[in-house]
Amino acid sequence: MTDPVAAQKAPYAVEVEAGKTYHWCACGRSAAQPFCDGSHKGTSLAPVAHTPDKAGTLYFCGCKASRKGALCDGTHKTL
Ligand code: FES
Repeated sequence: MTDPVAAQKAPYAVEVEAGKTYHWCACGRSAAQPFCDGSHKGTSLAPVAHTPDKAGTLYFCGCKASRKGALCDGTHKTL
């Protein structure tokens, strides 16, 4: 089991498109935050797919400790 590492202790604001699938980095090792660049290979972690219903700004978790998976739930404020 590999623990995720915090990429940053704050979310990433991203303008998303409706119906497009985004692969959120769960391991914290990607150089393309907040999305996967394959750096999880060799860990037990995998990216999380997220497909928004509507276009707009989403806040993807940067601390990798959110209980809502790809999206920030405020947990970073407790780290
Ligand atoms: S950035 Fe991870 S919970 Fe907010």
